[in-house]
Amino acid sequence: MSIRDEKNHETSYLKERWQNRSEIVPPDIEDFTSQFNEREQLLKEMEQYASENKVPILLPSAARFLQIICRSKKPENILEIGTGIGYSTLSMLFALKGECHITSVDFNIERIKLAGEFINRAGFSANLIFDDAFNTIRNLLSEGVTFDMIFVDSMKSEYVFMNYKIQSLLKPGGIAIFDNVLFRGYVCNDHPPRYKRSIKLLKMFLSHTRDYPGTITSIIPIGDGLLIIEKQD
Ligand SMILES: C[S@@+](CC[C@H](N)C(=O)[O-])C[C@H]1O[C@@H](n2cnc3c(N)ncnc32)[C@H](O)[C@@H]1O
Repeated sequence: MSIRDEKNHETSYLKERWQNRSEIVPPDIEDFTSQFNEREQLLKEMEQYASENKVPILLPSAARFLQIICRSKKPENILEIGTGIGYSTLSMLFALKGECHITSVDFNIERIKLAGEFINRAGFSANLIFDDAFNTIRNLLSEGVTFDMIFVDSMKSEYVFMNYKIQSLLKPGGIAIFDNVLFRGYVCNDHPPRYKRSIKLLKMFLSHTRDYPGTITSIIPIGDGLLIIEKQD
């Protein structure tokens, strides 16, 4: 890819992405399915906010899938890494009708404040932590806390350094979900040279999780690719 091709590609990608329309699924399919995916008015408002303010959120189709998992697994204690404005947090809270305890961490103060406001408006609560995820993970590990479900939506190049710690925080029978593991399809296709390092780390993470003992892993090509790890009892 020439630098100009790369720039054009990036510009059109970002245009779609900020409208919550595209990662690995073509935008027309994302739009079409979105019409049939029921969701609360507040979540639609957050999608609009994210689009207008260019704030990253979980793609709506992936959020609906996360809700299905929540409804079927009914996790009581959830850890989220990467709160953002709380779109995925609220998606889980709505799915579980607030009958869960969510701890969610982000090192962006503006986003975490906004997340708190959206969650309050919905009449729910969550333990929102303003911190670096690695610090929070270290604290949780030292406190001996474990979770039924862990949802990770932070920096993909850091996933490889989080994997072992996340596995230790997961209860037997629990489930961990990582977003963006297909990184716009770049992990399996050509990619712009500047993503070489992130892609190498992401691939390393995927190999580690595949070989991790006592777990079943699946990659679901929805949103930007969800990796699901089921920790066996
Ligand atoms: C894609 S956004 C999360 C979107 C959110 N899940 C949602 O659906 O609204 C990723 C977030 O991860 C946060 N983040 C990335 N690396 C982090 C780290 N090491 N510690 C804490 N937060 C981190 C960023 O500040 C950003 O808000």
